[in-house]
Amino acid sequence: NMQVSRPPLNIRLCGPRGFCAGVDRAIQIVVLALKRYGAPVYVRHEIVHNRYVVEGLEAKGAIFVEELNEIPAEHRHQPVVFSAHGVPKSVPEDAQSRNLFYLDATCPLVSKVHKQAMRHQRLGRHVVLIGHAGHPEVIGTMGQLPEGTVSLIETVEDAGGYQPSDPDNLGYVTQTTLSVDDTAGVIAKLQERFPNLTAPSADSICYATTNRQEAVKQAAPGCDLFIVVGAPNSSNSKRLVEVALRAGATRSLLVQRASEIDWESIGTIGTLGISAGASAPEVIVDEIIEAFRERFDASVELAITTEENEHFLVNRELRDIELTRE
Ligand code: F3S
Repeated sequence: NMQVSRPPLNIRLCGPRGFCAGVDRAIQIVVLALKRYGAPVYVRHEIVHNRYVVEGLEAKGAIFVEELNEIPAEHRHQPVVFSAHGVPKSVPEDAQSRNLFYLDATCPLVSKVHKQAMRHQRLGRHVVLIGHAGHPEVIGTMGQLPEGTVSLIETVEDAGGYQPSDPDNLGYVTQTTLSVDDTAGVIAKLQERFPNLTAPSADSICYATTNRQEAVKQAAPGCDLFIVVGAPNSSNSKRLVEVALRAGATRSLLVQRASEIDWESIGTIGTLGISAGASAPEVIVDEIIEAFRERFDASVELAITTEENEHFLVNRELRDIELTRE
């Protein structure tokens, strides 16, 4: 009976981490729609950017499509759910013209950004959207307004080169999942060049993004490795990797499942930080901690910076089943 001695490892487990209220709500909407209307329930785009979540819902009867025209005619009375990232106005319009029954799972905090962008425009301002090109949330926010009325700014360099036609009439909003620090830099650059730039009446970066980044910032200094549980297409998860590195972690990895970890490359570590993006389920955090426990004599210390109590109600059509769920 050979005893292999495992090296000691101190794990700093960040909190808040993982699911935010918007992700939790979006998943509930699909689950409750399946309960109420039966399978299949269509979902336009990954409901949240996580394979594990998507596969779990597929097993329950959800069918994921990228566009509404993929829904077969014989299923048009089954609901189609729009993802948490939000959709351009053309999508519900298209659903209506196809006589589809849709449930919108857009996070209320994304809808709030949509409203702020529309408000800027109503007040005669050209809208500057700070965000990442191609991300579904950016496509959705741009799609609230007519083409050509929103300018996308991704970086400080973009902000430095931006040439608006009416520099005194600009209003900005941002994607909800950006780096808090990078965005402050972009806004500062825009304000320096366009002193009349109008801010949205509330911050666009959401509470969950802010809290997860702050927790990582506090825990990362002194970590030999920092693992962020999340998907490669999850914007907020990618930002956590950057925050960890900037705050002083020697190395940081975005990991979807424990099976992805290349143990050879992990080498000798004494302190490991762990957090999870807003779309990453807690079971995967547990799975990863377990994988480290098998190889290290690990002790887990909680690194909690704040408490979160947000909860968003599901769509009216589903609220009665939500309230009676066991
Ligand atoms: Fe909403 Fe923020 Fe989560 S915008 S979906 S609460 S990351």
